[in-house]
Amino acid sequence: MSERIVSGERHKDDVEQIELRPKYLKEYIGQDHVKEMMEIFIKAAKNRQEALDHVLLYGPPGLGKTTLANIVANEIGVSIKTSSGPAIEKSGDLAVLLTSLEPGDILFIDEIHRLPRVVEEVLYPAMEDFAIDLIVGKDETSKSIRVDLPPFTLIGATTRYGDLTAPLRDRFGVVHKLEYYDQNALEKICQRTAKIYGSQIDGKGVKEIAKRSRGTPRIVNRLFRRIRDFADVLNEGVIDLNITKEALEKLQIDTMGLDQKDHDYLRGLIDNYGGGPVGVESLASSIAEEVTTIEDVYEPYLLKLGFIKRTPRGRMATEKAYKHMGRTYQGGLFE
Ligand code: ADE
Repeated sequence: MSERIVSGERHKDDVEQIELRPKYLKEYIGQDHVKEMMEIFIKAAKNRQEALDHVLLYGPPGLGKTTLANIVANEIGVSIKTSSGPAIEKSGDLAVLLTSLEPGDILFIDEIHRLPRVVEEVLYPAMEDFAIDLIVGKDETSKSIRVDLPPFTLIGATTRYGDLTAPLRDRFGVVHKLEYYDQNALEKICQRTAKIYGSQIDGKGVKEIAKRSRGTPRIVNRLFRRIRDFADVLNEGVIDLNITKEALEKLQIDTMGLDQKDHDYLRGLIDNYGGGPVGVESLASSIAEEVTTIEDVYEPYLLKLGFIKRTPRGRMATEKAYKHMGRTYQGGLFE
């Protein structure tokens, strides 16, 4: 399936966005509360010359969890090793990662909710005691030996906090939820991106890009790059409101940043299920998407916009969603 331009999930061509990533806290825009707290914890750990406590970052994709992990490493002045839950298949893979760390280093595990259970169990003593128990030998001659690790910081990231097991969750000393960015922060991020690329953009263009970016910096940057293409070819490189609107219309991204997939979802909910309540499984099959993609990628922003509600009996479309989709709302009559 082709990648959605307004999905917060990482795309293959997002590698080019690495140059846009802030490297230090002072360059990081938004998430003020998280920033303030992290600044204190980083300072305290540095002063004590101890490894920072393990950190768990959660929230929708594209809000800067990986960026923040890299910033923490830069601020402390240590190395960071990066992996992800599904990539660490065996406990041996984790042992290799852990034993390669230097004192104070950071191990970043993205999608940590997808770690296999056996691997997760190796992580517990690693996090708590800085040690792992390795099994050596086979059958009757096998024995467990304890290997000490240097003190390190685990930074875990997840879009699904609720999927973490309690023992794993409990081993993080610092837990932060990243929130969608507000309009002001998104505008600043857009201006910063324009500056890095040396692009000319006017205030109205900035506002429009920010408005349609679903509260997500990764989407600001992705839209920016596409709109810049239109501006380069059709508008002598100048990004203004007109070229921004034209590009977004061609990319089929509506005034709220919703794309055809969101429209399929809302149309399915409103037209096929009378606005709900309907179970997520039925919705998923009616628009040919995975339940987890719907829950992690589509719905968080639709919930934030107040277009849908999650009720015990299933998903429901709100009056706002009906209006946005040009449908007459009758739900109120029966409530
Ligand atoms: N680029 C992506 N996310 C950013 C952020 N939070 N601050 C500054 N630049 C960014």
